[in-house]
Parts: sequence; structure tokens; C-alpha cells
Amino acid sequence: MNLGVNIDHVATLRQARGTHYPDPIAAAQACIAAGADGITAHLREDRRHIVDADMEQLATMELHLNMEMAATDAMVAIACHLKPAACCLVPEKREELTTEGGLDVCSHQSRLHDVVAQLRSSGSRVSMFIDPDYAQIEACVAIHAPVIEIHTGHYANLSGAAQLQELEIITNAANYAKSLGLIVHAGHGLTLENTPAIVAIDAIEELNIGHAIVADAIFKGLHQSVRDFKSIMVR
Ligand code: PXP
Repeated sequence: MNLGVNIDHVATLRQARGTHYPDPIAAAQACIAAGADGITAHLREDRRHIVDADMEQLATMELHLNMEMAATDAMVAIACHLKPAACCLVPEKREELTTEGGLDVCSHQSRLHDVVAQLRSSGSRVSMFIDPDYAQIEACVAIHAPVIEIHTGHYANLSGAAQLQELEIITNAANYAKSLGLIVHAGHGLTLENTPAIVAIDAIEELNIGHAIVADAIFKGLHQSVRDFKSIMVR
């Protein structure tokens, strides 16, 4: 199973002090050296962590770059210029602490159809970050998005029976999406504790994990943190 490491929070730490360190580019290199299969970074409209220069540098590196972005004209223009291997379309609100909930593809089909077409013709593989919902999955097929990333944030925030119920919803959604020909990824809120149950869902090919990897790195270093996640993702 592939691991994309989200390095946003290395940049969050840098921005908190307005210094040039810690350097997310060096972090990306360290993650790849530790066995990560790709790097994910979210260029937010407010540039609160990753900034344009980071994304430009990441795009020139020998690694699989997944650019998380809102479906705005400005972001599409940047992505078409940088041509990352992958683009993941996410909803974005300025006031949120992190991405809350999946993209509502059903309600914005025509706009998202155009955005997906532009990004695909520029050479990026496009994924849609959505909740584990059948109607959203069908909308992704309708707009010709080849990949979905299932939002696991809700699952991560639950416990006990409620978490198991959400796990079943994610499993069914992943299987349904795969049966429709979509490539299925997942991410958000994943930790060493709650990731194994997601790894057990065969239909999911890739996980994107950031906060927990960077948080664990404070205690054991980035290299070990990435290795520990990779080791629980072996099938
Ligand atoms: N996938 C998407 C689409 C996200 O927006 C994020 C957070 O930026 C992640 C995965 C990673 O989530 P976390 O930082 O909670 O691991």
C-alpha cells in the first residue's frame, strides 16, 4: 500500500516563527529516503503553511508530488504551470483548522467537470477528496475523475461501536468506488492506532498522512516516524 506523506505541518512550524527552517523540502527528501512513496502538500489560498516557492521546488524534484488544492481558477493555473504528478481537489474554508469534510461533487458537477478536464489535459492525475458516500462517488465517475480519496477524518474522531460503523461505511464506499473503476485512496486523521483497520480494506491503494507523522517525528525523528507507518501498511 502506498504512503503519501503530507508535509504541510513542517511548513506550519516554519511559518509560526517566520524563519526559513524547518525546511519542508528537506523533510520531503527525508520522507522519501525513509520509504514514503510520495509527498503531499496543500497550497492553501491563505498560504498558511506551504507557500508557492515550496510547491515550485517540490514540482522539480524526483518524487511523486500530490498537490492538494481548492478548485479555484488561481489554483488551477498554478497546477497547470507546475504539472504535479497528482492533484487532489479539496474543499477549503479560510476559517477552518484543517480540511473539514469532503468535497460536494454532486452540487458542483459542472464546475468540477471543467477543472478535472483542465488538470487532466495538463498531465496530472486528479483525485477528489470526498466523504464515503455513494452519490458523491457516482458524481466523481460522471465528471471523469479517475481517483477518489475517501475522507477518514470522521472515522478518526470516533471510537467504539460508532467507529466500527463508520469503518463499515468506508469499506462499502471503497468497494463500490472500485467496482465502478475508480482508484481509491484515503486519508485524514490517520494515526498508528487507527490506520491498520483502513489498511485491511483491500480496495484502498494509497493513504495520505500528515499530522500524526510530523507529530510522532518530534519524539522519534521523521525517518523513524515514516518507517513505522510504512511497516503497518505492509499487506
Ligand atoms: N488528505 C487530505 C485531502 C487532506 O486535506 C489532509 C490534510 O491536509 C490529509 C489527507 C492528511 O490529514 P492528516 O494531516 O490529518 O494526516
